[in-house]
Amino acid sequence: MSEHLTVVDHPLVQHKLTLMRDKGTSTSEFRRLLHEITQLLAYEITRELPVTQKTIETPMETMDSPILAGKKLALVSILRAGNGMLDGVLDLVPSARVGFVGLYRDEETLQPVQYYFKAPKELADRMVIAVDPMLATGNSSAAAIDLLKEAGATNIRFLCLLAAPEGVARMKEAHPDVQIVTASLDRELNEKGYIMPGLGDAGDRMFGTK
Ligand code: URA
Repeated sequence: MSEHLTVVDHPLVQHKLTLMRDKGTSTSEFRRLLHEITQLLAYEITRELPVTQKTIETPMETMDSPILAGKKLALVSILRAGNGMLDGVLDLVPSARVGFVGLYRDEETLQPVQYYFKAPKELADRMVIAVDPMLATGNSSAAAIDLLKEAGATNIRFLCLLAAPEGVARMKEAHPDVQIVTASLDRELNEKGYIMPGLGDAGDRMFGTK
């Protein structure tokens, strides 16, 4: 992956995304679809995990065969909606280490403020995948990446379900080194910061909190 933004246009991803966008889709179905679509996106974003050769015995003969190399991947959920994507990635990479970043928006300054941060050790030696379904303004995503870099991360990817052009531009400006993988680049943000056409509030839809 050399592009800053990768849109995964696989038919299964696009089909599941359509079901998720539909406002008639139930909470349980939304969560299940997010889990499944994350598995497919995770397949794409882990394409460049380093591998080495291991000598093994098949029932037929000895061979050198590829195996993941280096430190375990670090998966970081941006709370709270990022949690809906954790298990989908962990299905594919069960030994990944998991961290959490919690940010809220200060109503006066409109800037993201950290309320929780817990990351795996030795971030500098790991591929780090930050997950948040919605890349909207990009402010909290960029702030979360700032925190990961302060903690030592150098090889970071950002996995989301939907991205707004404004969020992609903000991330590109703040973190041009961070590759973004998404299922869709939507049209725009509305005046309230929601992605259009989008799918509404991802956290509310996955946790049933509306
Ligand atoms: N967060 C959401 O959950 N939905 C949006 O449309 C934008 C940000």
